[in-house]
Amino acid sequence: MSTDILSHTENGVRTLTFNRLDKKNSITSAMYAALADGLAAAVSDASIRVVLIQGHEAIFSAGNDIGDFLEKPPAGSDSPVFRFLHGIAAFPKPLLAAVCGPAVGVGTTMLLHCDLVYAGDNAAFSVPFVNLGLCPEAASSLLLPQMLGYHRAAEALLLGEPFMAEAALEVGLVNRVLPPTEVSAYAQAQARKLAAKPLSSLVETKRLMKKGQAQAVAAQMADEGASFGRMLREPAAREAFSAFMERRKPVFSKVCRFSMLCERQI
Ligand code: COA
Repeated sequence: MSTDILSHTENGVRTLTFNRLDKKNSITSAMYAALADGLAAAVSDASIRVVLIQGHEAIFSAGNDIGDFLEKPPAGSDSPVFRFLHGIAAFPKPLLAAVCGPAVGVGTTMLLHCDLVYAGDNAAFSVPFVNLGLCPEAASSLLLPQMLGYHRAAEALLLGEPFMAEAALEVGLVNRVLPPTEVSAYAQAQARKLAAKPLSSLVETKRLMKKGQAQAVAAQMADEGASFGRMLREPAAREAFSAFMERRKPVFSKVCRFSMLCERQI
């Protein structure tokens, strides 16, 4: 497993920890592959009963590594990012997350597939796909409106501004807000409680809760994935990503003209 993702298993709980602090735990394709493999191994290993995903007390994840995404855009459903997204959406055992600090993009959308989420009072959730010239992923365009209500989801997804832990608690995205120093230990204690319960009952209960919309989630992910892959190569995303790398504000007014020109050429 990549050292940017640490894996530790104890008392039936596998803990996967983002360990790329210098880049704000942004996620490369190698990290997605490690996460996807870690989840797949946890499904087949009977001694692993629960998985906990966590970051650092100051940052959960800055989302996709922008440079890595530019260099190696995901190609097809076998690409590491899609393997990871399918892995969390279909993960049959309890899946927990401990989230402190910024949780950007997939840092937030992955939480929609976790069963229990514990947050530090410094947690800041954001889904700024529009600001990057992209569209939502991880079925967040389906699950966020369901969870937040359409208008609050539209505010989160269209404006892309962060919302804080208390707001996330109010809408049910997180189960409990704690001081950042206590989040990991609390989530670990909850995970251990679950690991002591009969696994077959946990798995069946989760299956029954999720089955009503498993197909809709998979279909939404496929639809989003096709658009996301296409939009990654389009001028708006190119401008947003170049601006991020060059530490400047993106200028989308030029991009509209370029896009129209591109459309005319097609
Ligand atoms: N991809 C690649 N590198 C990233 C990154 C990302 N998503 N997010 C942060 N980094 C890198 C920065 O380039 C910087 O690298 P450097 O030290 O080599 O210059 C380092 O991490 C620190 O980032 P910085 O922005 O200085 O930290 P901050 O504490 O001021 O802000 C964030 C933290 C998370 C709020 C901010 O980094 C951010 O908004 N990142 C982009 C998030 C994003 O748009 N993600 C969606 C991708 S689809």
